[in-house]
Amino acid sequence: MPKQTVADVDIAGKRVLLRADLNVTFIPNTNVISDDSRIKAVMPTIDYLKSKGAKIILCSHLGRPKGRVVEELRLTPVANRLKELITDGFSYVSDVIGPAVESEVDEMREGDVLLLENLRFYPGEESNDAEFAKGLSRFADVYVNDAFGAAHRAHASVHAITELLPAVAGFQMSQEIEMLGSTVDNPQRPLLAVMGGAKVSDKILVLQKLIDRIDRLIIGGGMAATFLKALGHEMGKSAIEEDRFDLVKSALSKANDMGVNVVLPVDFVVARSFCEEAEPVIVKFDEVPADGFIMDIGPSTIEEFKMSILGSKTVIWNGPMGVFEWTSFSKGTSAVALAIAGLKSATTVVGGGSTAEAVETFGVSDRMSHVSIGGGASLEFMEGKELPAVAVLPDREN
Ligand code: 3PG
Repeated sequence: MPKQTVADVDIAGKRVLLRADLNVTFIPNTNVISDDSRIKAVMPTIDYLKSKGAKIILCSHLGRPKGRVVEELRLTPVANRLKELITDGFSYVSDVIGPAVESEVDEMREGDVLLLENLRFYPGEESNDAEFAKGLSRFADVYVNDAFGAAHRAHASVHAITELLPAVAGFQMSQEIEMLGSTVDNPQRPLLAVMGGAKVSDKILVLQKLIDRIDRLIIGGGMAATFLKALGHEMGKSAIEEDRFDLVKSALSKANDMGVNVVLPVDFVVARSFCEEAEPVIVKFDEVPADGFIMDIGPSTIEEFKMSILGSKTVIWNGPMGVFEWTSFSKGTSAVALAIAGLKSATTVVGGGSTAEAVETFGVSDRMSHVSIGGGASLEFMEGKELPAVAVLPDREN
């Protein structure tokens, strides 16, 4: 069901509390943002609100500070990036609720944007505390949720707050609900799911749901090792989730019963040590050496996967094919990204987290129909779960 959006309410000149998911990734051990797509994703809503003369009080979480101030998790790097994108009337306050914030809000002019500090510095955020939500609601007349990435959390700034202010979805939130919903519920066929990433446990539940609906399935990335090991093949030193073997076998047998065409890797790129400089070696899927780590899919697998991608009318992609951050092991993910991006008149939906980062890295995010900002949230949505923060937003027909 579509949700009421910011375009459905009168926000001219109003104070708007805008919740975004600005939980960006950083280059390890630095405060340099490695992927700013979550920041860019909220810009259409910010631009719209600015054009209506709203006063925008922007808020987000960053990381998991567990209810206390953690200096490294301040929103300063995010504020610096926002300052580049919002050239006029942007400021950042180093608290979330209380008098210091209230006086900053009082100073705001129409079209100004004020970024609050990391919401999770207060324990009330994650405990969905009504008092904390009240503290936030005091600054605003209207609440806009554009934080799809946090929609699977029942936290105060996405849940309790909706009891206190008139609430609507932002443009990113509404696009996520529409695109992910229609892709799963009403796809053009053939519908292909491309699953990758390190862990089977992250994806197996959504996979079981998707098997009822898809026509083709590609399994790549680290999780392919658990699939192939469950089928009796040795996978060297790759991480294997033995406790998922039963789920893997039942998913494969269900796929077989449903006539879903499943494509597993036929070769891999392996390395003797798990590091960027390790020498890449191509081996067949059933010849992974005992001391080898699977780092990427191999060249024959790339060709098979491309064949399966070709002719698909809808593609759902979640999880990279290998350690794409390291050049020697990036060919599989890059080839899959380009093949999906190259599809003509197909709907292509990319799940968030590292897959979104991959399409950005390989310069094809603009050629996908939709790139979700939600990692866990997009998986839970596609599993058919009701996301708490989506459930509390009013439907459009109301
Ligand atoms: C995410 O990165 O998936 C969202 O920002 C949610 O973060 P969380 O898993 O820490 O709640």
